[in-house]
Formats: sequence, C-alpha cells, structure tokens
Amino acid sequence: MTDRVLFVCLGNICRSPLAEGVFRHLAAERGIVVEADSAGTGAWHEGEPPDPRSCEVAARHGIDLDGQRARAVVEADFERFDMILAMDRQNLEDLQRLRPPHARARIARLRDHDPEGPGDVPDPYYGGDQGFERVYRMIHRSCEALLDSLEDGD
Ligand code: 4NP
Repeated sequence: MTDRVLFVCLGNICRSPLAEGVFRHLAAERGIVVEADSAGTGAWHEGEPPDPRSCEVAARHGIDLDGQRARAVVEADFERFDMILAMDRQNLEDLQRLRPPHARARIARLRDHDPEGPGDVPDPYYGGDQGFERVYRMIHRSCEALLDSLEDGD
C-alpha cells in the first residue's frame, strides 16, 4: 500500500516544502512509492514557491523543490493522508484543533522519528542561512528514520 504523508509547518514556504522534497528524494533513492505533500497551518503565502533559502539548501544536497506551491491545511487532508507530520509543537496543537472527529490520519511531530531525540524543527524564517542547514539536517535524519519504519511496515 502506498504511504501518504503530509508535512505541515506554519507558512508552508520554509520547513515543510523542504521536508516534502527530502522525503520524496530519499523514498525515490530507496525505490519506495510514496505520496507526499506539504501544507501550512496559515494561508498567508498561498500560491507562493518555497523560500529561496530552502531551495538553496535543498539544491546544495541535490534536491529539487521546483513546482511546489504553498497551500493551507484543509479538512480533507485528515482523510486523504495516513500520516500528518508537524514541524513543531505549535503546528501539532493547531492540527489537533483542526482535526475532524474520527479522522483517519495519524498526527505527530516529524522529529518523533529523529534518532537524536524528539523536538521541534525550529522556524528558520527570521534566522540566517545556517538555520536552514541545521533544519535540513534534522529533517534529513528524521525522514531516513521515518522511511526505515515505513519499510518495516510500521
Ligand atoms: P515555515 O516558516 O513555517 O517554515 O514556512 C515561516 C514562513 C513564513 C512565516 C512564518 C514562518 N510568516 O510569518 O510569514
């Protein structure tokens, strides 16, 4: 069965597009078929491409975010996806509030899969480029571990 995963942050221009791109890239490397998308709990950036700093850090690691456009989380996402992964605790709390009763998607933080321990993927929007590299590393190792668990059938 195809695993369907939605990555969620606040604006859907920095962290979650990067997570979507990294997850797709690593799944393709392993030959795993997945459905991945990303969205924001806020709609301010709807229709915009990812932040150039996310595109840059992705490109440095051979990953392409071209074609992604920001959108807000919608109710149908809670039926369409098996798993919705929040970047930080605030995103998680917002998702729990938006979640319709009896929705099928499991909701967690991405870094619940981080082998270095759980936590937030911090918002790099107002920080420097170093913030984006740090965020990339957190996302990368968490996505590798997530794919390990999907391959194990968890
Ligand atoms: P993201 O970062 O949630 O990782 O996409 C942000 C992008 C934009 C804003 C906040 C965070 N903003 O306030 O516009």
